[in-house]
Amino acid sequence: MNKFKQDITQGIPNELPVLKAFDPEINHAPKRKDILNKEEKKLAVRNALRYFDVKFHSVLAKEFAQELKDYGRIYMYRFRPDYEIYARPIHDYPGKCDQAKAIMHMIQNNLSYAVAQHPHELITYGGNGAVFQNWAQYLLVMKYLSQMTDEQTLVVYSGHPLGLFPSNKNAPRVVVTNGMMIPNYSRQDDWEKYNALGVTQYGQMTAGSYMYIGPQGIVHGTTITVLNAGRMIAKHGEDLAGKLFVTSGLGGMSGAQPKAGNIAGCITVCAEVNPKVVQTRHSQKWVDEVIEDLDDLVKRVKKAKNKKEVLSIAYLGNIVDVWEKFDTDNIFIDLGSDQTSLHNPWAGGYYPAGINFEKAKELMSIDPVKFKDKVQESLRRQANAINNHTAKGTYFFDYGNAFLLEASRAGADIYLDSPTFQNRKNPPKSRGAVGVKEFAYASYVEDIMGPMCFDYGFGPFRWVCTSADPKDLAKTDIIAMEVLEELKKKSPKEIQQQMSDNIQWIKGAQENNLVVGSQARILYADAEGRIKIADAFNLAIKNGEISAPIVLGRDHHDVSGTDSPYRETANIYDGSQFTSDMSIQNVIGDSFRGATWVSIHNGGGVGWGEVINGGFGMVLDGTEEASKRLRSMLFWDVNNGISRRNWARNEGAVFTAKRAMEMEPNLKITLPQIVDSSLLESLF
Ligand SMILES: NC(=O)c1ccc[n+]([C@@H]2O[C@H](COP(=O)([O-])OP(=O)(O)OC[C@H]3O[C@@H](n4cnc5c(N)ncnc54)[C@H](O)[C@@H]3O)[C@@H](O)[C@H]2O)c1
Repeated sequence: MNKFKQDITQGIPNELPVLKAFDPEINHAPKRKDILNKEEKKLAVRNALRYFDVKFHSVLAKEFAQELKDYGRIYMYRFRPDYEIYARPIHDYPGKCDQAKAIMHMIQNNLSYAVAQHPHELITYGGNGAVFQNWAQYLLVMKYLSQMTDEQTLVVYSGHPLGLFPSNKNAPRVVVTNGMMIPNYSRQDDWEKYNALGVTQYGQMTAGSYMYIGPQGIVHGTTITVLNAGRMIAKHGEDLAGKLFVTSGLGGMSGAQPKAGNIAGCITVCAEVNPKVVQTRHSQKWVDEVIEDLDDLVKRVKKAKNKKEVLSIAYLGNIVDVWEKFDTDNIFIDLGSDQTSLHNPWAGGYYPAGINFEKAKELMSIDPVKFKDKVQESLRRQANAINNHTAKGTYFFDYGNAFLLEASRAGADIYLDSPTFQNRKNPPKSRGAVGVKEFAYASYVEDIMGPMCFDYGFGPFRWVCTSADPKDLAKTDIIAMEVLEELKKKSPKEIQQQMSDNIQWIKGAQENNLVVGSQARILYADAEGRIKIADAFNLAIKNGEISAPIVLGRDHHDVSGTDSPYRETANIYDGSQFTSDMSIQNVIGDSFRGATWVSIHNGGGVGWGEVINGGFGMVLDGTEEASKRLRSMLFWDVNNGISRRNWARNEGAVFTAKRAMEMEPNLKITLPQIVDSSLLESLF
């Protein structure tokens, strides 16, 4: 057995590894808030020491207390393995079943330097999207996976492996929960406190569920969003050539925006305050140019507009300054959005204008109250500048990062009924939400993603070739394209545009060089597309055309995976956007229909307490059982959400529900009766 395999099977080492120096070259998580009192700090250290032999406690107790003081969390840096962490070919992993090895491949991808935002703090994306809370949990989970048979299930509570439990070969190999709280303990500070105690974590969506595939995962969705936003603002059916898209963030997901802008054919200006992040995205060629001076930026944008260049620019600085500068210099913005991490506004997700990046990081930990004031002041400024632009005709949409939510909490002028909007010549219209005060701007799900994609069952299906061989990925691209082209021939007109966009995407996928980390691909597809593509992959594995198992999965940000009133379910208007039955039912249903692993999370996207979301992973190994599992599970995984969206009276979903019943006689969906509004007028 080689050293890597030995290390994995050993789990927590028998001897203390050498203490590791803090590496300043790595992008580290910001110091977290000092939230625990003295007794709670003792409890945090006591909790951390549970993983280790008592003979090491005296050394580790001091060390962990110091980590808590220095970083606000106990990461157990000493136990970070010496081997390189990345998505290795599946057969490099030790173990007794391919399903478990495939999960190791996915975990290591989420933690690899090429992919993870703060790899030493086990954070994949979004500032706090954790795979595990500490290195002991990582070591133990990998060890359990290497021991597991297909008669066992590993139970993971917010990164902590509770243990291996006897089950059966049709059961999931791993069941993950992240951040599940008693509802009244789900405020931002509860995350700070209970995460510092080491008993819960924020798993984001695909971080704590081992399903992240680098920024590619979001490029496709972002491209669809920008393309369709472009179609919405086109006056004469023209494309986006020469039009300007202004936004922010070059992080885990936000980093996809410039690339998506290029694919959609516009000029993108994306502001980012963190120089390391700008450098990473520029060196990965995800953004064309970097500009640090606002006057230079204005000049460059004017030139690009004149020449109708397809161009993406990273502005190294604060987004608020860009909105304000473009307002005073009269640079017309066609499309505007924001992708700072406002789901995590007080701990590094949003940097306030007027303070340099390093100073802001300091302020956040030494004076959190002042930092919060600065963030809120900055949000009010940003909203005012955006309002000036939209008065001139800019189409602004919330990008699911809680921008409108946090701006409203900061007292920004952002509500639909404000005189700022109502006194306009063409005031924005109500979208029909009841029980909430409506914002002047829609979220991308309300205007674009919901009615055009989710209601028809289209969502971010993805797959990973566990051979780690690009040739396998190329093969899967061809298979998926052929399946879609065949399906398009018989597709109804309602989904023809979707089918064309997705075929165009998969045709350009190789050329667009999208892989960062594992050999993965994302492709928006509906239930029928997902099932047919997956079945064709399974057959290709059986025939030896693909050399190793494939992992299927999806982002939680999908038709059925997520209940989130300000994002995925923002276009549900029957009041049920504040319930989370759909996502819970989804994970339960996936788990007994053949998923290899399932996960359910509190938080993810818009923030702790604001959303419940779940997902799955499924290993295809070329067998008949895999074929049965994929048909049963993928059909449910999409049609659960279709049925719910249909019940909320969303027209596209009613259409899709009826279509699904025609395809599967065993499916019986409750359809809504539509009430004549005039009947209700005089009642109250
Ligand atoms: N695109 C989508 O479809 C989509 C999907 C899910 C979530 N989101 C949301 O988008 C947000 C961003 O996600 P991410 O993974 O990129 O997070 P991230 O934390 O990796 O990136 C956000 C970036 O914004 C930068 N930033 C913060 N404040 C800034 C400011 N004032 N000016 C300029 N730059 C600033 C940060 O330095 C950081 O690099 C999250 O809230 C996420 O939940 C978007």
